[in-house]
Amino acid sequence: MRTYLVTGGAGFIGSNYIHYMFEKYGEEIRIINVDKLTYAGNLENLKDVEGRENYTFVKADICDSEKINQIFAENDIDRVVHFAAESHVDRSIKNPTVFVETNVLGTLVMLNAAKAAWELPDGTYKEDKKFLHVSTDEVYGSLEEDGGYFYETTPYAPHSPYSASKASSDMLVKAYMDTYKFPANITNCSNNYGPYQFPEKLIPLIINNALHGKKLPVYGDGKNVRDWLYVMDHAKGIDMVQEKGRLFETYNIGGHNEKQNIQIIHIILDTLQEMLPEGDPRKELVSEKLITYVEDRKGHDRRYAIAPDKIKEEVGWYPETMFEDGIRLTIQWFFEHEDWMEHVTSGDYQKYYQEMYQDK
Ligand SMILES: NC(=O)c1ccc[n+]([C@@H]2O[C@H](COP(=O)([O-])OP(=O)(O)OC[C@H]3O[C@@H](n4cnc5c(N)ncnc54)[C@H](O)[C@@H]3O)[C@@H](O)[C@H]2O)c1
Repeated sequence: MRTYLVTGGAGFIGSNYIHYMFEKYGEEIRIINVDKLTYAGNLENLKDVEGRENYTFVKADICDSEKINQIFAENDIDRVVHFAAESHVDRSIKNPTVFVETNVLGTLVMLNAAKAAWELPDGTYKEDKKFLHVSTDEVYGSLEEDGGYFYETTPYAPHSPYSASKASSDMLVKAYMDTYKFPANITNCSNNYGPYQFPEKLIPLIINNALHGKKLPVYGDGKNVRDWLYVMDHAKGIDMVQEKGRLFETYNIGGHNEKQNIQIIHIILDTLQEMLPEGDPRKELVSEKLITYVEDRKGHDRRYAIAPDKIKEEVGWYPETMFEDGIRLTIQWFFEHEDWMEHVTSGDYQKYYQEMYQDK
């Protein structure tokens, strides 16, 4: 039975990944989820795996090296999948320090702990131990509107404090692979969307605001382009890279699904109108009139676009969920989890840990 240490598993992508892995491997794996439960960590995302014998949650900060070393000492970890990060660009513009602490120093702590646990006296590593560092396409900077794609060989050119901190963490992982032959991979993925996404990010924000008849803020001219990927396709890509990819390699994960922000908003509005039943009072609220252009984000990258050729050729991964299907699945999920959105927007979700784990 393989043991996984997943960091940041209470966040958006981490919790989807944990669901994906239990669905795929069932009782064949064990997952230890280490999460600090910042504002972005929500244990309600993992309600349905909580009772599993092969799942453990540990509330810890990845910057706390003593605690992280202890987890490695007490468990024979086979795989690390490292999601934990501060992840919101706007927050990084306001407060860059915590981004460097968690994303850079926290990654260093994870690398050191895994290296210490896995390294043998002769400098080689215990058999079949692997570390996967989950990163973003934002490290590559910005593309021209008609200008090419990000490849694994594209030079790093981050612009925001968020992408600079992720680029630094990638460089550390690369340095450990080059210097110590540390058994790792890096994945750089495009923008994700899907269930459990915190409503500060574009897609859940627009869905939630539109359903409440609130303004739909659009940065600048709304023509910034992102390459959107359904989160379960990302989860699958991570697993495939870790099991089928070549060690020490970086793989880009993306959907060939470029859309301008304003196009995304129109698609969401149209899909909501289509999916809401006749007579539902929210149908009246969902309207293009809610679109409100606001001052552009500082240093706003114009276009991101991934070339997923390498992962396709070497690992056999390709994005399975078309955007039109993925957005319907996401909206349907939000319809069925109104209480989740309510808890998140009211702040009540932060009480969940106290209720579930305080006396354990
Ligand atoms: N969201 C995207 O579109 C996207 C795209 C590509 C890559 N990524 C990367 O994927 C990873 C996950 O992104 P996400 O969108 O799920 O983020 P998220 O903000 O939803 O979740 C981050 C999780 O990390 C936890 N965390 C934060 N600081 C921590 C610390 N110091 N110690 C322990 N846990 C801590 C949070 O509590 C939260 O559960 C990040 O590394 C991000 O850079 C995200």
